[in-house]
Amino acid sequence: MRQEMRDYLDAPVDRHGTNCEKWDLLGKHYGRDDLIAMWVADMDFRTVPQVREALVKRAEHAIYGYTDDSEAEHEAEMGWLERRHGLKVESDWILYSPGVVDSLFFCVDALTKPEDAILIQPPVYGPFYQAVKLYGRRLVESPLIYGPSGWRMDYDDLEQKFSSGVRMMILCSPHNPVGRVWTREELQKLVDLALRYGVLIISDEIHADFTFDGHRQTRILALDGAQRCSVMLTSATKSFNLAGLRQSSIIAPDAALRKALSDELARAHATSPNIFGSIAQTTAYRCGDEWMDAVVEYVRENRDFAIGFLRERLPEIGCAPQEGTYLMWLDFSGVGLSHEAVMDLLVNRARVALNSGLFFGETGRGWFRMNLATPRANVERTLENISKAIRSR
Ligand SMILES: Cc1ncc(COP(=O)(O)O)c(C=O)c1O
Repeated sequence: MRQEMRDYLDAPVDRHGTNCEKWDLLGKHYGRDDLIAMWVADMDFRTVPQVREALVKRAEHAIYGYTDDSEAEHEAEMGWLERRHGLKVESDWILYSPGVVDSLFFCVDALTKPEDAILIQPPVYGPFYQAVKLYGRRLVESPLIYGPSGWRMDYDDLEQKFSSGVRMMILCSPHNPVGRVWTREELQKLVDLALRYGVLIISDEIHADFTFDGHRQTRILALDGAQRCSVMLTSATKSFNLAGLRQSSIIAPDAALRKALSDELARAHATSPNIFGSIAQTTAYRCGDEWMDAVVEYVRENRDFAIGFLRERLPEIGCAPQEGTYLMWLDFSGVGLSHEAVMDLLVNRARVALNSGLFFGETGRGWFRMNLATPRANVERTLENISKAIRSR
């Protein structure tokens, strides 16, 4: 990474007073404001400089009326997917939606019926549960297995549940919060099962650009047979820190699925994109390669620092290999306190805000999630504070 890039990422940026959820809403979520915010999944890094320039330029026009998809946006996204992920998609497979969570809800509503069974793999991102329950679908859980080599899927359990009538599965790839980057073999095995039992896979790939140590994201649509049974949800917002601009993509090669989804978007009146979201995404996908590489490297270094610190100073806190995402999934069960007592210690003694594992379901009890997409100084202070709080209790 160029020194200039490192300085850009290292520089503290005060986000207080920008109405940002991560820093300004600490009081609402944690009961106090004086915490280091290491929770919600956005980054404390300024985005790609060219994105800022493009937004400023457009803002100067001062007319922000209704807009539409642009061919430039499709091409930029197709270019990114091919260049960075080796995936070729066709322009008309892409539908735009305000957010990946919105898209999850659209998929559930458009592609399943009330009482249909939908499978998820806990511990997993909270809104997966909500998407299933909100529409009166039946929640089927196939928990991931945690063993000495880390987290894996339970294929016997998946097959048994697929064969008893599951209609849809919502996959998290890479997985938030456990940090797995599923291998091609693991995903192909899943797709083969889905094809055998007629299950539709909705693959949430919002974290796809954050992979480390040679782990490579396999895009669901690159797998044999997957284009018949899968819809891919993706977004530049996580990769380039644009979440407040609200823009994401639904990529559906199958014409019937795509028609159902585009009718759903029309029903929800979600077809006219946000001008700034579109410009930011187009520019980031066109110009963001160097920035992205630097951020991934920086986060990997933060992860390595945190692993070293835990090993040396806090061996009672466990973590499985984090192959992707900028979110570290930490096992506090060895600390010898209840989940609630750990939360109290983190907030009121260490003065740090981590996500409670319970946001990811009951299997997250005893676990907490730490956001590593922040200047190194925040990671150091967070771990120092946790260490002091645990040692002095
Ligand atoms: C797996 C996953 N999906 C979706 C989202 C949110 O996506 P959006 O802001 O586009 O709704 C997040 C945010 O943390 C996430 O981790």
